[in-house]
Amino acid sequence: MIPGDGIGIEVTEATEPLLIELAAAHDVEIETTWFDWGSERYLEEGALMPDDGLETLKEFDAILLGAVGHPDVPDHVTLRNLRLPITKGFNQHICKRPSYLFDGVESPLRGYEGGDIDLVVYRQNTEGEYADVGGREHQGFGNEVAVQSAVYTREGTEAIVRAAFEAATERSGKLTNITKSNAQAYGMVFWDEIVEEVSEEYPDITVERLLVDAGSMDFVRRPNEFDVVVASNLFGDILTDIGGIISGSLGMAPSTNINPSGEFPSMFEPVHGSAFDIMGEGIANPVGMLLSMSLMFEHLEEDDLAETLWDGVGAQLADSDAPRTPDIGGSATTLDVVGDLEERLLE
Ligand code: NAI
Ligand code: MG
Repeated sequence: MIPGDGIGIEVTEATEPLLIELAAAHDVEIETTWFDWGSERYLEEGALMPDDGLETLKEFDAILLGAVGHPDVPDHVTLRNLRLPITKGFNQHICKRPSYLFDGVESPLRGYEGGDIDLVVYRQNTEGEYADVGGREHQGFGNEVAVQSAVYTREGTEAIVRAAFEAATERSGKLTNITKSNAQAYGMVFWDEIVEEVSEEYPDITVERLLVDAGSMDFVRRPNEFDVVVASNLFGDILTDIGGIISGSLGMAPSTNINPSGEFPSMFEPVHGSAFDIMGEGIANPVGMLLSMSLMFEHLEEDDLAETLWDGVGAQLADSDAPRTPDIGGSATTLDVVGDLEERLLE
């Protein structure tokens, strides 16, 4: 458990007891170890995590991350010194992020009912625009320059593209590849070529191609027509915030960081960040974390648990009398929501 900062800590602490009790009710024993890695540690000791942090994490079956980000620490320091070292250091190439509009939840888009929005974005998670390649020179002079390069490897691209095709096979057979190959003529044309190559192994899958500007518009205009979407690290990041809000709230969107070989642990976390605007109020929506836990169970092949938790959250959201947090129109706290779910699932 790495709760991190802000509402990351709030949703992690609120949901962990339920995770353990629910598993126990299914005869699965979960042992958790907590790491106080994050911005407070950085402000006191100068590092978000210890030098041997990855060595320590290697021993675990799975990692749950809350979120990192602190008003007194620059955002690039927090992200680049905790989440990215883990995703990159453990070859967690695959970031799977479902967007699902549950019954009883209102989309800010007009005319959609529960189940109408049901898509999953496969985001490349270890390279692309988030590669740590670049530099700055001549700072403070007129010729000051910043270079930021994107990196696309065959291994990293194939891993995400293959995972997306596999998912499309399990789902409706449709895959949308979202790039920007008109402007990014090296990396993204390479990416499109890999999609083309891999598609030959999946003749039954229909592949749609969109440029990311139009693709973003279509997430708003016709989200019901998407099923599986594959995108680069940056584009996947942006599209999944849109996917979160059109499904009711960013606070309900779950995420995975999968190491496909299984050599290293995979990591599970809500899509959202530490939410400076509501931190400390105890009103963060815990659903993104709960659904991330469900995806963790799925990854650990505890399908019963995965389904029980996912369906339990769905039933709670469908019940107009159940407590809900302010982001989805209620006035309940994080703990009210988790407590009610606990009663539904365990009593
Ligand atoms: P954010 O996701 O923290 O918040 C965006 C908006 O969504 C805010 O209005 C917030 O109140 C709302 N929101 C997010 N989660 C919610 C929840 N569970 N319940 C109710 N409302 C929720 O994104 P923002 O403001 O851009 O970033 C804040 C900090 O978090 C920054 O330091 C950023 O770098 C960091 N961050 C960290 C991530 C991670 O650790 N994986 C991911 C995204 C941002
Ligand atoms: Mg994001």
